[in-house]
Amino acid sequence: MNEKTFVNPPVRKNELVEVDVTALAFGGRGVARVENYVMFVEGGLPSERVKARITRTKPNYAEAVVEEILTPSPHRVIPPCPLFGKCGGCKLLHLDYVAQCQQKEKQIAEVFMHLAGVTLPELRPIVPSPEQWGYRNKMEMAFGASCEGKLAVGFHTPGDFRTVLDVPSCLLQPTAFDEIVKFLRVKLEALRSSSPEQYAPYNPVAHRGFWRHLVMRHSRATGEVLVAILTNDGDWPTVPQLAQEFLARFPQCQGFTWGINRGVSDVARMEEKRFEIGRGWIEERLGERTYRISTFSFFQTNSCGARLLYDAVKEFSELTGKERVLDAYCGTGSIGIYLADLAKEVVGVELVREAVWDARYNAQRNGLTNCTFLAGEMRDVLPTLGHTVGARFDRVIVDPPRGGMDKRSLKLLIGIGAPLLIYVSCNPATLARDAATLVAAGYIPECAQPVDLFPHTPHVECIIKFRKRCPS
Ligand SMILES: C[S@@+](CC[C@H](N)C(=O)[O-])C[C@H]1O[C@@H](n2cnc3c(N)ncnc32)[C@H](O)[C@@H]1O
Repeated sequence: MNEKTFVNPPVRKNELVEVDVTALAFGGRGVARVENYVMFVEGGLPSERVKARITRTKPNYAEAVVEEILTPSPHRVIPPCPLFGKCGGCKLLHLDYVAQCQQKEKQIAEVFMHLAGVTLPELRPIVPSPEQWGYRNKMEMAFGASCEGKLAVGFHTPGDFRTVLDVPSCLLQPTAFDEIVKFLRVKLEALRSSSPEQYAPYNPVAHRGFWRHLVMRHSRATGEVLVAILTNDGDWPTVPQLAQEFLARFPQCQGFTWGINRGVSDVARMEEKRFEIGRGWIEERLGERTYRISTFSFFQTNSCGARLLYDAVKEFSELTGKERVLDAYCGTGSIGIYLADLAKEVVGVELVREAVWDARYNAQRNGLTNCTFLAGEMRDVLPTLGHTVGARFDRVIVDPPRGGMDKRSLKLLIGIGAPLLIYVSCNPATLARDAATLVAAGYIPECAQPVDLFPHTPHVECIIKFRKRCPS
């Protein structure tokens, strides 16, 4: 979308305007125009006419919120969650699921044209998630103070990282998580009220307080659960009693961990393990494969959807049993292991050492002897492959974090010169950026497959198959 710049925008802050919403932008806001001036309308859906209040103006766009829907979209539904609009997680809960998928497909085509200048020759219809509700196998919640000063467990209020919205139940998580949150809220609030100074919720501005994050994992295949509580540095002498009580109440729980996070950023990261009971890992199955997942290792958050994602990667890889495959950003080795029986050899590279240990265990667990996993930064490991495992690869599979690949790693990967490169991404914007570099380096995008792993949220996964142009 080309935004025009206005010295005097045609609308003012707090003005009420009547507009037609014509598209849905990434992030879930409606897009409308007043005299070619772009407006992002919170709560507006494509094909709707709405009255919207302007909340902010910039030279090239304005922000607004819907005050009244004059003509509703035929795809508008009543959001089935009382926290819709407050929580910020399920931004698309007011749109029916079929229309959500159509919008995501459209956004991928547009982002490619807009950011990469690339028309995708074949954009396949999006693969919907097999489950629309309760599909998340991992949740990270924050602790904070409620308005009444009690302990809240939930998500940061959108636009205000200092406050936490208490979430009694979430439609995207397994029902077991709702029960776990309920149990822990009562127990930890009892501690807080018995000793408010020692057991205060963490305040991210003052960097003071104790309770920080709750991390929960669930296996779709086995029903097993893992729970970790992250706190600021401090004492918690009664944690063994609480953990025993917790395991008695939730026998499906395979591990209860207490860890310390002293960092100032709001990432649920464990710097130091202070207490653990149980085994600290669970097993998940995707197709024929069984994977061990530790509390903090990366694993796709929608297990049923991940299987469909990996099936598409498998198809795009065109494996015949003779190929050497590089699984770059391999996490716990899940993609490489999924297709290892169709390849001659799989080499995985991953930054997080614990994930690499899981990957090695997972290869063994699945009886595979053709997989090697290397730990380290992509940009440091790629130049050493020639000395360790050989530098020639027939297939490169890349699945980087949301920020995409750094320039150096992408250059090194292009230098490998694999005839086929499969790029898996959860962020179409960085995928499009990296696609432009790949195209300039002689890789031709052949087809793209969006897969919806995140129903009701604006996120989407997309895979692109690139073929190296033959030297003429
Ligand atoms: C989107 S996940 C993909 C994991 C795996 N392919 C899967 O499907 O489960 C991205 C992975 O890249 C790893 N990672 C992030 N930055 C990295 C880097 N600079 N070098 C190597 N690995 C990195 C993360 O730890 C994470 O496991």
